[in-house]
Amino acid sequence: MASEVRIRAVERDYPVKASTSPFDDWGAISEEAKSMVIFRWLIELRTGDQWQEVGNLSSHAVWYGPTESSKAMNIGISLLEEFRGQGIGSIAQRLLAEELHRQGYVRVEASTDVTNIAEQRALEKAGFLFEGTLRKAQGRVDALHDLQVWSHLS
Ligand SMILES: CC(C)(COP(=O)(O)OP(=O)(O)OC[C@H]1O[C@@H](n2cnc3c(N)ncnc32)[C@H](O)[C@@H]1OP(=O)(O)O)[C@@H](O)C(=O)NCCC(=O)NCCS
Repeated sequence: MASEVRIRAVERDYPVKASTSPFDDWGAISEEAKSMVIFRWLIELRTGDQWQEVGNLSSHAVWYGPTESSKAMNIGISLLEEFRGQGIGSIAQRLLAEELHRQGYVRVEASTDVTNIAEQRALEKAGFLFEGTLRKAQGRVDALHDLQVWSHLS
């Protein structure tokens, strides 16, 4: 599988194929959040000599201090429903962590709902380490949710 998955940078507003997840029922989006700088990649799977879009990744900066070396990248992922559970999520997140390390970021992190076992397994398989729980960190339409934070260091 590893050689058949690649990631490809696209513009933030690239019309990615939509998919659903129980973890992205946001409700009203904050105006302030809309101005965040977000980078995006397609996840592509090779079948014969064709590359097919099977999901997408994103990243945004998280600053832990006012210095360049305090800037981490937080990544997110969404696979189309029919391509989940095949190992693609772990490969794609490993590829993105490696790409961001190549760009100079030492710390690549991912935060995921404490109940999102599939993403926790995928992050572990991608070489991320679990660091702890961020209590009531993410507001979705129903409530505030606890997140796990994981990191991948260069
Ligand atoms: C989360 C996601 C990226 C994982 O990618 P994936 O390719 O489906 O995951 P992988 O196949 O690499 O690995 C999933 C692992 O979780 C396990 N898993 C999947 N669903 C599970 C569940 N409901 N409970 C327990 N384990 C589960 C699989 O068995 C597998 O573990 P294994 O390799 O030990 O068998 C993908 O499922 C997805 O896009 N989901 C919807 C969006 C989402 O949740 N994104 C993350 C938000 S932070």
